[in-house]
Amino acid sequence: VTGLDLPTTDGSLGGLTREVADLLRGRGVPTPGTEARDLVAAVLDRPRFWPVLHAAATPDSDTAARIHLAAARRAAGAPFAYAVGRACFRHLTLSVDERVLIPRPETEQLVELVLAHTRSGQEVADIGTGSGAIALSLASERRFGRVLATDVSRDALHVARSNARAVSASLSVSVEFRCGSLLAPLADERFDAIVSNPPYIAPRELRDLPASVRDWEPAQALLCAGDGLDVTEQIILQAPAFLRAGGLLALELDSRRAQRSAEIARSSGAYRMVRVRRDLTGRDRFLLATTLGVE
Ligand SMILES: C[S@@+](CC[C@H](N)C(=O)[O-])C[C@H]1O[C@@H](n2cnc3c(N)ncnc32)[C@H](O)[C@@H]1O
Repeated sequence: VTGLDLPTTDGSLGGLTREVADLLRGRGVPTPGTEARDLVAAVLDRPRFWPVLHAAATPDSDTAARIHLAAARRAAGAPFAYAVGRACFRHLTLSVDERVLIPRPETEQLVELVLAHTRSGQEVADIGTGSGAIALSLASERRFGRVLATDVSRDALHVARSNARAVSASLSVSVEFRCGSLLAPLADERFDAIVSNPPYIAPRELRDLPASVRDWEPAQALLCAGDGLDVTEQIILQAPAFLRAGGLLALELDSRRAQRSAEIARSSGAYRMVRVRRDLTGRDRFLLATTLGVE
């Protein structure tokens, strides 16, 4: 998508915001006025009401061009985060594009659960890190001994590494990145916690997803064979070999498969405690499993 030549009436931020709103309205974007304000604020890296409070300011031509480009991408159907190239996740602002999943609010809750069940100095691994959202949040919110992040996608790791550089001042430990499938990148090392938000949509469910997800977010981040459960099942079965005694496995799940996931963990015999946790909307969304033995 290239930038649109929006006819700037007076070149002011207020005028530009109104033009973006008109463009989005014409493309059927819901709440175009709010979106236009938020889009302009995000491109300017300012709080969301900044464009309203500084409506008379005149952006330079480079800034105006970046606003035009973001507006054109949003008008073409791109999710807001891809259009502006960034997403907020817990305390961090991360760069995102079509190479990585846009981090979701429920995954912020997964981070919260990991923080509640770990302590400083411990070693954690994030499998399928995407933008780096989970690993970078953990490294910024707790003084872990080590944080390792993996992904099967080299493109995703490129984005995650770049985000790690951008937020390095907030990190209490630098995050290591490794490429590979499932737990193979952990080699023969052991961790106190393994966390993952794996792909969990069955291919046949793709058509039920909103177009902004289906047509824009990477299939590798969304789709999973075996009724959407293959990757989750592999991680549940492989993780005990990479966890210390009493170590934690924390997974985000599709609510439709949460109880089956818990059953897989229980029947493996490798965990002494398996529980499913709900998200803020009350759906079963997280698996917490603790390995046998005492830490
Ligand atoms: C649902 S996204 C989660 C991204 C990020 N952790 C988040 O929560 O925003 C799943 C991620 O797992 C990666 N992935 C898919 N299959 C994988 C596999 N077999 N091994 C490792 N990573 C995989 C994808 O590339 C994608 O980045």
